[in-house]
Amino acid sequence: MQNSGWILVTGGAGYIGAHTCVALLEAGHQVLVFDSLVNGSTEALARASALGGGEIAFVQGDVRDRAALDALFARYPVSAVLHLAGVKAVGESVRQPLHYYEVNVSGSLSLLQAMDAAGVHTLVFSSSATVYGAPVRLPIDEQAALGPSNPYGRSKLMVEDQLRDLCAAQPHWRVAILRYFNPVGAHPSGQLGEDPHGTPDNLMPFVSQVAVGRRPELAVFGNDYPTPDGTGVRDYLHVCDLAAGHVAALKALPAQGGLLTVNLGTGRGHSVLDVVRAFEAASGQTVPLRFAPRRPGDIAACWADPSRAEQLLGWRAECDLDAMCRDVWRWQRGNPQGYR
Ligand SMILES: NC(=O)c1ccc[n+]([C@@H]2O[C@H](COP(=O)([O-])OP(=O)(O)OC[C@H]3O[C@@H](n4cnc5c(N)ncnc54)[C@H](O)[C@@H]3O)[C@@H](O)[C@H]2O)c1
Repeated sequence: MQNSGWILVTGGAGYIGAHTCVALLEAGHQVLVFDSLVNGSTEALARASALGGGEIAFVQGDVRDRAALDALFARYPVSAVLHLAGVKAVGESVRQPLHYYEVNVSGSLSLLQAMDAAGVHTLVFSSSATVYGAPVRLPIDEQAALGPSNPYGRSKLMVEDQLRDLCAAQPHWRVAILRYFNPVGAHPSGQLGEDPHGTPDNLMPFVSQVAVGRRPELAVFGNDYPTPDGTGVRDYLHVCDLAAGHVAALKALPAQGGLLTVNLGTGRGHSVLDVVRAFEAASGQTVPLRFAPRRPGDIAACWADPSRAEQLLGWRAECDLDAMCRDVWRWQRGNPQGYR
């Protein structure tokens, strides 16, 4: 199948973007990536192209650079945009809020303006479960109160607000806001995966670096939460399921129209110790750990109600935690230094 027009993936050279490019190619789309490479790699794009069985056009640039975006839209007939480019580390966002607002909020605004000028009005936006406030009840559905507790989450919510205002004012826009829960895992080929620069911010890459011997032990922040084993519980989602969610959103948008907001998660929660045990089983390695005090701002438990994504997009997560750990381990073992 060959669909008409290019699908522009901003941030396509990053972790989720590269997996999404594979899924788009497999669905028959023509894929164009725009990425500054601040946290992405052309090696990931080359591998995604080989795995997806198609070429990926690439333009290096920054989403804050309106002129570069105008030139891109003038050169390629783009039919829809998946906007993944951005910065994403919660702790860093607390230290550098202006940078987060500039890249995530101003960058999105510049992209929306360039899209509007080029007559492109179909967008899938990478939002995050961090836009929700501390959960009052679980699972979290899309009606839950919004109230992010850090600048990263607030930058995502600000972009969501821009999109809600835009769709209310101009009903010809077709926008899907995807609120990801906790993306983990790697492509089952072992060719693509998460390649964090410096100390990983998230649990799974940290666990895998301990298992492969790059780090001595895992610090588990808090073992006195009101959860079955006392450690924090999250909704981990395989990155290939997440990639498929983008393709499903793109497919659903023309018929659904207007603005869609959906959670992408499995609907199941796993504790830190569940993840460590599953990773040990998948890798055959021991993951030494020590308990440390809770981190300020962390919540005890969070998992999604993903039923709206199933209703509106026909999408449901397929992979379980064991598959996520197996695929991360295959990637980590085959690429101990990531793409470098
Ligand atoms: N990974 C997660 O846990 C998670 C969870 C929820 C939402 N998200 C969102 O999903 C998106 C993708 O996340 P990821 O995990 O793949 O991150 P990533 O850092 O691997 O990918 C982001 C990509 O965007 C590029 N980029 C950054 N700033 C840019 C700019 N100004 N102009 C152009 N390109 C730029 C980077 O080079 C990178 O390739 C982000 O918007 C992130 O906020 C991620």
